[in-house]
Amino acid sequence: MNSGMVTAAYIAAAILFILSLAGLSKQETARRGNVFGISGMALAIVATVLGPGVTSYGILLVMMGIGGAIGAVFAKRVEMTQMPELVAILHSFVGLAAVLVGFASYLDPDTVYLGTERTIHDVEIYLGILIGALTFTGSVVAFGKLSGKLGSKPLILPNRHLLNVGIGVGCLIMLFLFIGAAPDGEIAAQQAAYAAGDTGKGLGTFLLVVMTLLAFAFGVHMVMAIGGADMPVVISMLNSYSGWAAAATGFMLSNDLLIVVGALVGSSGAILSYIMCRAMNRKFLSVIMGGWGDAAPSSAGAADDSDEPQGEAVPISADDVAELCRDADSVVIVPGYGMAVAHAQHPVSELVQKLKADGKNIRFAIHPVAGRMPGHMNVLLAEANVPYDLVLEMDEINEELGDTDVVIVIGANDIVNPSAMENPDSPIAGMPVLEVWNAKTVIVSKRSMATGYAGVDNPLFIRENTRMLFGDAKDSVQAVLQAL
Ligand code: TAP
Repeated sequence: MNSGMVTAAYIAAAILFILSLAGLSKQETARRGNVFGISGMALAIVATVLGPGVTSYGILLVMMGIGGAIGAVFAKRVEMTQMPELVAILHSFVGLAAVLVGFASYLDPDTVYLGTERTIHDVEIYLGILIGALTFTGSVVAFGKLSGKLGSKPLILPNRHLLNVGIGVGCLIMLFLFIGAAPDGEIAAQQAAYAAGDTGKGLGTFLLVVMTLLAFAFGVHMVMAIGGADMPVVISMLNSYSGWAAAATGFMLSNDLLIVVGALVGSSGAILSYIMCRAMNRKFLSVIMGGWGDAAPSSAGAADDSDEPQGEAVPISADDVAELCRDADSVVIVPGYGMAVAHAQHPVSELVQKLKADGKNIRFAIHPVAGRMPGHMNVLLAEANVPYDLVLEMDEINEELGDTDVVIVIGANDIVNPSAMENPDSPIAGMPVLEVWNAKTVIVSKRSMATGYAGVDNPLFIRENTRMLFGDAKDSVQAVLQAL
């Protein structure tokens, strides 16, 4: 392929990526969006591999084979509940790739620039490595938190803001030193010196290594300081960072498609972060700074003992839940992370079909941060063939919950916690929630009285109109179906 053909293929791939994003914005078109995305990526890979930039295929094909095989095995094995952590670890790969490409690009004896071009290239390298390094470690910590290998409580170091500012200022000073450390002389002289073993890049490399270590530390600190309930914002933010890291890699490699794709991922991730912040009623900056300037103790961990709800939960049997459903005109189902863990979406879908056939007004209420990744519940319900028109967003259904006979909460906890609205000292204070307690009766299906991801007690469970259907969500829903 000559460079003209590669450019044409890149333009076609960029259009496919834009169509993909547009498709992914609605459930009805999401499958088509995926097909566009896969086609765009396939085209991009083929054009790059066959393009003039690649001169030796042996090692490339071996590496593609190894990478592709690992990807295929993981994609086959991964459970729906593990998707968020898979996404987090994939973000970390993008970050690490940006770091490695940055170092390779800096040390490559064939990329020698002079004057302003050299400064621009050096800044690209520096920023690419910086963003890549903090995306790498931040995503690894996010992976740990999402998979439960690390606790979801925030790690609050003393003087943490000062520490962050110190790292930021240090990196900025080193940027200027790095630009000033570039080797002097004409291109030919520099190349000759390089061939003789004198790269003239010793100080520059040292500064890059120190900056990379600082950025690694910053990535860890940034995500460790963020509490459970604020994790959705972090996930979308790391998604955005991985896009900017890819765009920076594109600048370093002078690859236009990588720049375009990186910018698309970076900006769509930033928009998603904004949406998440609105959904959680949080200020973006205050979340990523681990609660900086935030009056609400958003990331302060679980409430203290004095805030613990007092009272007894009332259990209910599956037979009684079936009876309540039979008597109800309207039923709303609120799915949460526990539905994903229990793989309960299929029996839930059957239950919905049964109640619909019996003439009930049945709908789903979806909280924007239900589960562990944006759109988690929508994906599960689509997988179980639940009709899209039964699935309503929080804002669409919250007001109607007061007129609902029965709300069945399936494996959800934080997203239906009234203390978000009623207890200003709660770690989730201010977060909009589904106001299920306004319904006539609330059934909560979960295994115990344990807290959810944010580690906050839930007074809903001991409200007068709440009944607890204890047990695994799949077993419980199947038992209700049986009784019906
Ligand atoms: P959670 O508050 O995490 O509650 C899930 C509940 O499911 C748990 O209390 C658990 O109680 C129950 N459960 C677990 N396994 C179960 C099973 N097999 N059968 C029945 N119940 C089971 O979930 P949520 O209400 O969906 O809220 C989401 C939380 O995750 C929010 O705090 C949100 O900020 C956070 N988060 C969200 C995202 C995104 S982007 N959506 C990303 C990261 C974090 P038992 O142990 O008693 O069964």
